[in-house]
Amino acid sequence: MKIEGKTVLVTGANRGIGQALVTEALSRGAARVYAGTRQPLAHPDARVTPLNLDVTDAAQIRAAAESIESLDILVNNAGIALYDDLSERAALEQHLAVNLFGTYGVTQAFLPLLTGSQGVIVNNVSTMALAPFPFTPAYAISKAAAFNLTQSLRALLAGRGVRVQAVLTGPTDTDMTRGFDIPKASPESVARAIFDGVENGEEDIFPDPMSASIADSWRNGAVKAMERENAAFVTAEPTAA
Ligand SMILES: NC(=O)c1ccc[n+]([C@@H]2O[C@H](COP(=O)([O-])OP(=O)(O)OC[C@H]3O[C@@H](n4cnc5c(N)ncnc54)[C@H](OP(=O)(O)O)[C@@H]3O)[C@@H](O)[C@H]2O)c1
Repeated sequence: MKIEGKTVLVTGANRGIGQALVTEALSRGAARVYAGTRQPLAHPDARVTPLNLDVTDAAQIRAAAESIESLDILVNNAGIALYDDLSERAALEQHLAVNLFGTYGVTQAFLPLLTGSQGVIVNNVSTMALAPFPFTPAYAISKAAAFNLTQSLRALLAGRGVRVQAVLTGPTDTDMTRGFDIPKASPESVARAIFDGVENGEEDIFPDPMSASIADSWRNGAVKAMERENAAFVTAEPTAA
């Protein structure tokens, strides 16, 4: 799947990794980039169409899907990460609302278009889907759920010609990690690696040095093998009883 000539939708497109994804898609020759944001957005490139898209707002999701005629690549990037200690159920619900149900709702709404184009869904998850950082456990739980959603959608949609890819992103220098004094990748380099992964058809994309350090062990590990074995139950032809 080359980005050139394609129609791309990025959620959370106004800052951080989302903004870098818009710029990268344009530089790779995307024909149209829909930039989903909660605030009005002005962009100098005429190929960018702003979309009013709070991923927790069912009416906005529906209106956005109805306003688009075709779509090749959906990037579910919008996300929140707040400090918590699991003492408040509300914090967990808040993270699930955006990071899990937001991804789910946007995906379902655009699925008919993606099925029509034999398109690609890219979910920007996190390495915390695999190993939580205990200062943001509600965030990690929501990303683990979003990753599991990605794995099931991958199996369920394969037969409809829609590819579903996960991005296991590590620390990236955006507002989200402002308080952490750790090595971080630039959002621009992460956006490049994400679209490299889309163009190369990598199921799980590890777009920065930290996440890349676990890529081989993940791809060749027992858990990935089990994901493939389980997926085969869905993708196999049904057998007679
Ligand atoms: N930075 C990292 O180290 C890192 C690591 C792993 C994964 N990720 C993931 O990468 C994605 C982008 O993160 P980032 O680092 O670029 O964070 P960021 O700079 O904080 O940007 C988050 C983006 O998500 C949008 N957003 C939040 N809630 C939304 C909602 N309800 N509806 C629509 N948009 C919403 C924000 O819009 P507003 O401006 O309106 O708030 C903003 O555009 C997230 O899913 C994040 O979990 C980031």
